[in-house]
Amino acid sequence: MIDTDYELLNSQLRALLAGEPDKLAATSNFVALLFTALGDVNWLGVYVLRGEELVLGPFQGRPACVRIPVGSGVCGVAASTGNTQRVADVHEFPGHIVCDADSRSELVVPLLVAGNLIGLLDIDSPSLARFSAADQRGIEKLCATFGALLDNGDGRFI
Ligand code: SME
Repeated sequence: MIDTDYELLNSQLRALLAGEPDKLAATSNFVALLFTALGDVNWLGVYVLRGEELVLGPFQGRPACVRIPVGSGVCGVAASTGNTQRVADVHEFPGHIVCDADSRSELVVPLLVAGNLIGLLDIDSPSLARFSAADQRGIEKLCATFGALLDNGDGRFI
């Protein structure tokens, strides 16, 4: 089990995004910070909600599926339910969409700005059951911080 200091990561995220109004730049750095800080992760990125589809945004890892319909796969279920999906074995998840065949477990957290779903953070690991309940709580908090930092009142995302 990997023990991540989520309090520290939260402070680092706040410092990294402070004063930067460009949402694309902020999202790119959010993704890069988490990808480099979390261990045992082969893909980490954002899907942006555009109508009834999730469209690939900033990420780290191998090239991935560009469009995912809401309701399909782990990401699509997180979008349609608004709930975090913590999947210990992606092979057991009905409809899981394979982007990187190395992925074995996955954590998908909805991203909200001003209470509206604007997309998802998707994290894949090559290890089974990589993400604990503590990881889920820590990453949900980071996503809440990210959503609050991005909220400039214009109601838009990237
Ligand atoms: N596995 C995801 C698709 C996105 S990739 O993992 C980057 C899913 O089932 O929604």
